[in-house]
Amino acid sequence: MSQNEQLFARAQKTIPGGVNSPVRAFRQVGGIPRFIKRAQGPYFWDADDKRYVDLIMSWGPMIVGHANPEVVEAVQRAATQSFSYGAPTAGEIDLAERICELMPAIEQIRLVSSGTEATMSALRLARGYTNRDLIIKFEGCYHGHADSLLVKAGSGLLTFADSTKNAPSSGGVPQDLVKHTLVLPYNDVGALEEAFKRHGDHVAALILEPIAGNMNLIRATPEFVKAVRSLTQQYGAVLIYDEVMTGFRVALGGTQSLHGIKPDLTCLGKVMGGGMPMAAFGGKREIMAKLAPLGNVYQAGTLSGNPVAVAAGAKTLEIVSRPGFFECLTEQTKKLMAGLEQEANRAKIPFSVDSVGGMFGFYFSQTVPTSYEAVTKTDIEAFKRFFHAMLNEGVYLAPSAYEAGFTSIAHDNAVVDEIILAARQSFQKI
Ligand SMILES: Cc1ncc(COP(=O)(O)O)c(C=O)c1O
Repeated sequence: MSQNEQLFARAQKTIPGGVNSPVRAFRQVGGIPRFIKRAQGPYFWDADDKRYVDLIMSWGPMIVGHANPEVVEAVQRAATQSFSYGAPTAGEIDLAERICELMPAIEQIRLVSSGTEATMSALRLARGYTNRDLIIKFEGCYHGHADSLLVKAGSGLLTFADSTKNAPSSGGVPQDLVKHTLVLPYNDVGALEEAFKRHGDHVAALILEPIAGNMNLIRATPEFVKAVRSLTQQYGAVLIYDEVMTGFRVALGGTQSLHGIKPDLTCLGKVMGGGMPMAAFGGKREIMAKLAPLGNVYQAGTLSGNPVAVAAGAKTLEIVSRPGFFECLTEQTKKLMAGLEQEANRAKIPFSVDSVGGMFGFYFSQTVPTSYEAVTKTDIEAFKRFFHAMLNEGVYLAPSAYEAGFTSIAHDNAVVDEIILAARQSFQKI
């Protein structure tokens, strides 16, 4: 038995499914999950000392490369001053100010410890602010695992559950709660207009992945984005951009800077914590003023604004803000995608690609899908074969066809070439 197999057998005895987050278990693709020992730059090494080019980068956060020396130094320095105080620090103000500068729609921000906490808190705040209950979300979008958001959800839910029914995607979520969540098809302007015509006066919030990354990568169309902004404004609903995945990853100012849209609230996570457990939600001052201790919407956290996480996040944001960072990341990612497409064409396999900044999608279909339904019709069996062939060649892709992929600034020309070569071998074999 390999070390990975031994660890997986052992893990399953004390950890449900052997993992602490479901997609890590390789359920869609089958096989033994890799247990990671260490990582550096664009690479990680598993328990059997096999090296992989990492194309998930902790599902997004590690945009400056694993164990980036500058981030490590910032974390080490912070850690010597203790890990947590439960009292405010100057570092939190610096970080809040920097994020407000980078995303001008955010006038005030609150730090939390996970993306789930950010979206859950933003929804509560929107409901408290509007005194309404109904929320609108879109098929295949994942916003963390708060109860009201687990309806037709993407990511692991799309991988495991029958998300086709208009019912909770997860056990343990009361139907009574889900009835306040209206789920609409992504990129469908007609359905959105109809929903607002019928229910507009009861809608507290519309929450959107502005570039979806939890049903593979799917861009919102310009018409859809325009309709989302104007209808929420017209009916007095809070527009929440869930940029947990896309914030500081698709562009320095997030998707909202690409869309030229000012959402009312924004949720952030992943990159802003530099790989440490940190996330945030923020937006209009008037809405944020409803939060305790100013207002009556309660939200709190023992580890919120954790000083070590703040140090990692602040240094990461400093690095991604440097001139040329996003141009380089975008170019390398595009080059990688073009290379994969070329190799698939060479092997005569229907295949398409897309990318924005350091986030990418590839699809075993002739054209890039624009809806949840279209993604579920791509060739999942071909994906599984490709995943294992690439793993064998030393490239670690997301172990599900319903997840986006992520690069980092450490994925330089040599690394991109290494991946493309692995793809050439893999496409021949599948
Ligand atoms: C768009 C989006 N929102 C929210 C979340 C939840 O974040 P977390 O896993 O940190 O709870 C995720 C996680 O992947 C996400 O992609």
